[in-house]
Amino acid sequence: MMRFGFDIGGTNIAAGIIDENNRLIVKDSVKFPRGEGNEAVIAACAGLYRSILANAAISENDIKGVGVAVPGSVLPQKGIVVDAHNLGFHHTPLAAVLSDALHKPVELINDADAATLAEQKIGSLVGTSTSVMITIGTGIGGGLIVNGELFRGGRGNGTEPGHMVLRNDGRLCTCGVKGCAEVYCSATRLCKDGEAFGKPTAKDVIEAAKAGNEQALALFREYVDDFGSYIASIVNLLDPERIAIGGGVSGAGSFLLDPLREDVARKCFFETCPEIVVASAGNDAGIIGAGLIVS
Ligand code: BGC
Repeated sequence: MMRFGFDIGGTNIAAGIIDENNRLIVKDSVKFPRGEGNEAVIAACAGLYRSILANAAISENDIKGVGVAVPGSVLPQKGIVVDAHNLGFHHTPLAAVLSDALHKPVELINDADAATLAEQKIGSLVGTSTSVMITIGTGIGGGLIVNGELFRGGRGNGTEPGHMVLRNDGRLCTCGVKGCAEVYCSATRLCKDGEAFGKPTAKDVIEAAKAGNEQALALFREYVDDFGSYIASIVNLLDPERIAIGGGVSGAGSFLLDPLREDVARKCFFETCPEIVVASAGNDAGIIGAGLIVS
C-alpha cells in the first residue's frame, strides 16, 4: 500500500505520497502558518493531505498511514513532539491530533532522522552499516545508522547532534544553551556573520568566497574550522564508514567538502578518515523518510 509523508519545517510544510518501491510519486507544499497556533498547523496539514490525494486521484483507502517529520525531539511511542523550537511545539501530542483530523494512524520522526532513513534506502548511505547524516540548514540535524538500523536514542528521545556543545559560553542557541554546534556550523551562522559585510545569505557568502572576497574567505575558513572540529568529534565517537552532508550549505559541493575533508583528517584520532560525501536523496528526503516509517 502507499504511505503518506509530511516534512514540517519552520518555513513550509511539504508532503507527498510514497509508493511500494519507496518512490515519491506526488508532492506539494504550503506555508507553515507561523504564529497562528497549533490548530492552524493541523488545518494546514489536513488541507494539504486532502489536496494531494485529490490532485493525484488517489483514494484515502489506498493510504496505509501517515509519517510526520518534525525539526525537534519526539517521543515516537507516545506520539509527542517534546521540543521543536523552530515550530513553537513543546509537549505537543501531534500524532493523536493529526490522526483525528486525517482518520489515519500517524507516526512521528525527527526530520534529520527521516532524511537519514531516505539516504540509507535510496541515497548516499545505501549499503553502509554504520554511517551518519548531518543536515546543514537553518539548524543542524543529524541521524545515525548503527549496525544497519536508524539509532533512535537509548531512551527513545532520538539524537540531537546539532546541539553538541562546540564552545563553552559561546553564542546562544535557539535551544537556550550557549555554544551549540548549530550556532557555529549552520547556514544561519554564515547568514549572521555575512550580514556584517553585506552578504546576508549563506549562498552570498559562499559565492563571495569563491570569487576571492577577503572577508567572505576569512568567514568561510573559520566556518570550515568549526565544522571540521564538529565532524572530527563525530568520527571519533562512532568511527562511521561514511558521513553524508545534506541541507542547503551542502550545495557548495567540493568548495566546502575538499577543505572540510582536510580539516577532519587533521583533527580526527584515526589514521584514516571515513568518506565524507554530499547527501543525494535531495530536498524530498524528509518526506520520503517520513513515509518510510509508516509500519
Ligand atoms: C533541531 C533538530 C532538527 C534540526 C534540523 C535542530 O534545531 O533540534 O531536531 O533535526 O534543527 O531541522
